[in-house]
Amino acid sequence: MMATVLITGAAGRIGGMLRPRLAAPDRVLRLLDLTALAAGPGEEVVQADITDMAAMTTACAEVSAVIHLAGISNEAPWEHVAAANIHGTYVVLEAARRAGVGRVIFASSGHAVGFIPRAAFPAADYAFPAPDTYYGVSKVAGEALASLYHHRYGMDVICVRILTCADRPRTVRALATWLSPDDAGRLFEACLTASEPGFRVIYGVSRNASGGWASLAEASSLGYQPRDDSEPFAAEVLAEQGQPDPGDPVHAFLGGEFCLPSLDASEVT
Ligand SMILES: NC(=O)c1ccc[n+]([C@@H]2O[C@H](COP(=O)([O-])OP(=O)(O)OC[C@H]3O[C@@H](n4cnc5c(N)ncnc54)[C@H](O)[C@@H]3O)[C@@H](O)[C@H]2O)c1
Repeated sequence: MMATVLITGAAGRIGGMLRPRLAAPDRVLRLLDLTALAAGPGEEVVQADITDMAAMTTACAEVSAVIHLAGISNEAPWEHVAAANIHGTYVVLEAARRAGVGRVIFASSGHAVGFIPRAAFPAADYAFPAPDTYYGVSKVAGEALASLYHHRYGMDVICVRILTCADRPRTVRALATWLSPDDAGRLFEACLTASEPGFRVIYGVSRNASGGWASLAEASSLGYQPRDDSEPFAAEVLAEQGQPDPGDPVHAFLGGEFCLPSLDASEVT
């Protein structure tokens, strides 16, 4: 049977990585974004704002799972983050419920627990929130909404605390936190196909030799088998940026740069 998967924020970086990797003969990818997109084979396009309940309920019609990526993906003033990421995630979940969607996969972030200190690595699955920014707070709120929609309505909801998803690791920190595009594909495929996952909070990261910053146990239990390692990029990144200094605050917490004073509220305009 043909299954339709709605991807919000499909025009973004991760959306672009997932499109070819989640394509399947028995699956339609319904791509939703504020930005215009062109549909390829097996794809549909919806141009909409995730805060628009009517548009989102229509977009969720006949959908078997939502991958919710849309939102502000960086630190920003509170009003913007709250509107797009907290209210937007509420609308996505509520629209999914109204349309009878059984599963939502939420792109949370390591910044929901960014202030976990190095001494506590690997960060535990379901670690209590320790957000490092308003952005991180918005992901914690999204996880709380996800929990509500699971417990009250029985929806399967998987919150993926993604670390650093990029085509390649560009910083010394990212050698530990990198999630490769192919592993992102494997991870979201596992989230789509795991049987009756219930409510989960997992980390999204590759099997980096210099990693170990976050648990992969819960993600593995859903069937995620990471294959990529930042190691082939290490020599080049270290030659350019030097060995990590454990005293550097960027390496002291899971959230890295997001934990620095440069993101104090007075500095974010
Ligand atoms: N890239 C990473 O390393 C990383 C790490 C942790 C979490 N995440 C999360 O994963 C998700 C995707 O990340 P990304 O790197 O692809 O981000 P991105 O900024 O490249 O893409 C976000 C997309 O969401 C869309 N969008 C924003 N507001 C919208 C709205 N109101 N309605 C509809 N669409 C809207 C944007 O147009 C954009 O195409 C985000 O939620 C981000 O917070 C990403």
